[in-house]
Amino acid sequence: MKPQDKIIVAFDVHTKDQFLHLAKSLEGEAQYIKIGMECFYSLGSDSVSLAKDFGFKVFLDLKLHDIPNTVEKSCYALAKLGADMLNVHALGGLEMMKAAKQGIERGAHNNSVPKLIAVTHLTSLNQTILESQIGISKDLIESTTDLALLAKKANLDGVVSSALEVEQVKSTCAHDFLTVTPGIRLANSDRQDQKRVVTPKEAMKLGSDYIVIGRDITLSNNPRETFIKILEEIK
Ligand code: C5P
Repeated sequence: MKPQDKIIVAFDVHTKDQFLHLAKSLEGEAQYIKIGMECFYSLGSDSVSLAKDFGFKVFLDLKLHDIPNTVEKSCYALAKLGADMLNVHALGGLEMMKAAKQGIERGAHNNSVPKLIAVTHLTSLNQTILESQIGISKDLIESTTDLALLAKKANLDGVVSSALEVEQVKSTCAHDFLTVTPGIRLANSDRQDQKRVVTPKEAMKLGSDYIVIGRDITLSNNPRETFIKILEEIK
């Protein structure tokens, strides 16, 4: 995979103008973008076709988490939109993840089934929050790896995790089990709400297949220049 293909830019925007501004700035450089809840709930499914018009591959990050029947039907609908990657929460359980897989296979067109990955633990969580608020007393890395194994059992393609867990996930699941890692911050940049963060270069060294970068690119004065700078850093 070329370095350009490994950076997924999170289009966390809520107006079409913001979307177009960002898309024009990154056109021809960025290959893969992420449309998450903010963008999808604001612009609707048009956001996917808009991204496709610019030639971007699309990771639809809607983190589905519901009963298996609802998730199956929703994944069917989302696969029909032509996204290249979709995700669900691993905490929805084995049956839900299997249903998600069935849904995307049913909805995919032209034999190109989108990659389906599972969110393990959000990168805004840490061990303390996991224990004191969510009631999971297992070690964070162990819990992430267990959820990754469950996703593999459901025949998913990979997981969303912190880059800090990639080594463990790959050695437990398989080397080709995809790891998509948000929680990326440029050196000296503000962590904001993220807790488990690494730099783009560190994430690559740790073996991430894809790094997801939002605000450090999208809120910079020149998203295109920032993207190119990150690209140079990971090459
Ligand atoms: O702006 P920032 O680089 O923190 O954006 C990270 C993006 O990745 C956001 O769109 C967020 O929703 C998403 N994400 C995350 N942690 C996860 C899963 C997705 O930060 N575990």
